[in-house]
Amino acid sequence: MRDSERAISIQNLTKYYGKLRALNDISFEVKRGDFFAFLGPNGAGKTTTINVVTGLSNFQHGQVRAFGYSTTTEYTRTRRLIGLCAQEFNFDPFLTIHQLLVYQAGYFGVLPQEAAHRADELLKRFQLIERRNVKHRALSSGMKKRLLLCRALIHDPEILILDEPTAGCDLELKFLIWDYLTQLNNEGKTIFLTTHYMEEAERLCKTIGIINHGRIVRIGNKQEILQDKSLEAVFLEVTGLE
Ligand SMILES: Nc1ncnc2c1ncn2[C@@H]1O[C@H](COP(=O)(O)OP(=O)(O)OP(=O)(O)O)[C@@H](O)[C@H]1O
Ligand SMILES: [Mg+2]
Repeated sequence: MRDSERAISIQNLTKYYGKLRALNDISFEVKRGDFFAFLGPNGAGKTTTINVVTGLSNFQHGQVRAFGYSTTTEYTRTRRLIGLCAQEFNFDPFLTIHQLLVYQAGYFGVLPQEAAHRADELLKRFQLIERRNVKHRALSSGMKKRLLLCRALIHDPEILILDEPTAGCDLELKFLIWDYLTQLNNEGKTIFLTTHYMEEAERLCKTIGIINHGRIVRIGNKQEILQDKSLEAVFLEVTGLE
């Protein structure tokens, strides 16, 4: 496979937090245009993997690339290729939601006029346009979730990484997000998502990766993985006894 066909490539990645080995020699690839669901129980290493791929965390061993570019030595290039919708809310408290989208776009070289237009389009798409001049504190939790998505998309990245994008969302919002992610994937964006909802992985994704205790347990196409009876225990752990 050419580098340009590998949206994300992780090779022999090991990451320690102090003495805790959070990622233990993991290797896998996400192809361009894939919809990849990364599953695993609490504490398995999903967010840590995302933090490494987006350059937010350092690591001790291995190589991480986005479309062939190293996320460490070619950081500015890879960061531009990736939009991150983080697990936690981490917004600037002093900016209105419209301003914070425009600022975010500015980090990636989008000019203010274009950024303001894109921000309005995304706020409309996620039904936040009437709130464009409030600060994020004035939003409900579901609205903040939508704002995280707007921010991830503001610079029109090739790869969208979503860490539990629908956690705590009501059904209507979940469907809105699912429909939009499907549309983005159909338009060619590569999507990497973590979730605890098996239904979400089943509906949306093409490929599933499973991580447990910092090690990759399985990677494969959705049908194969979902039919694998030996993984039932892992699925129960991921999704709880729903
Ligand atoms: N900043 C940190 N400092 C120290 N340990 C950390 C830090 N972040 C995560 N860990 C530890 O690393 C391990 C992996 O955590 P991580 O957040 O990647 O799990 P996760 O799979 O995203 O879990 P969840 O489903 O709960 O979000 C856990 O044991 C966690 O306690
Ligand atoms: Mg996490």
